[in-house]
Amino acid sequence: MTAYSLAAPFRLIALEKVDSTNDEARRAAQAGSGHGTVVWAREQTAGRGRRGREWVSPAGNLHCSLLLDGGPEPSRTPQLAFVAAVAVRAALADLVPGAVFQVKWPNDVLCHGRKISGMLLEQASSLIVAGIGVDVAFAPEPGLYPTTCLRQLGSGAEPFDVLAGLCEHLGVWYARWRSEGFAPIRQAWLDGAAGLSGPVTVRLSDETVLEGTFAGLDPEGALLLVEAGGGQRKVLAGDVFFRR
Ligand code: BTN
Repeated sequence: MTAYSLAAPFRLIALEKVDSTNDEARRAAQAGSGHGTVVWAREQTAGRGRRGREWVSPAGNLHCSLLLDGGPEPSRTPQLAFVAAVAVRAALADLVPGAVFQVKWPNDVLCHGRKISGMLLEQASSLIVAGIGVDVAFAPEPGLYPTTCLRQLGSGAEPFDVLAGLCEHLGVWYARWRSEGFAPIRQAWLDGAAGLSGPVTVRLSDETVLEGTFAGLDPEGALLLVEAGGGQRKVLAGDVFFRR
């Protein structure tokens, strides 16, 4: 692909088709690419979601992966998932004024309760791969969650428009994270969070099911769940379902 470029510090690798932009970003990191490298593919043949799920990746949607320097404290790199989610939410809100975009723990973005974006963060050597999918032209068949796409919301944006806006916001939020730490990111995430203070069901990776009230995020980004007896639990990984 030609004629596409991103503002510094981002450097674009644009591809027609790839297995997974996360895998391509990892290969790029192994070959020496550094912080700010962005792999964008029109189509993925083996797009991956969280917890080993398939991510349907037709041309027309956005599939991209950014290489990010996780900073000096490896224990803080999971916070980048929240940096990415806040940036995606802001970029989508720019494209559809008036629509309500919210983040959903750990790092989905919803519009009017329907999933429009998901993120998959992985380690690549000393860097973090932030893989981001946004449903631009096509909403996948609903699986675990209802879905939507920018086209259904009345936006004529193309995948690269979404990518450019996303990089702009990510640049700003990443810089804040490096200079001010997690607190402003956590606050921005909570300001735009779906289901806060409401009843949720959480399915853990070992299929244990928890029920309670979504009480917020701990300082590291774990979901705080208040269970029926009043006890509070920290959930580090799982799928969240809102209950009415
Ligand atoms: C999820 O919600 O389960 C996460 C989805 C992450 C999808 C993106 S698309 C770009 C990057 N490449 C992949 O294979 N996955 C991520």
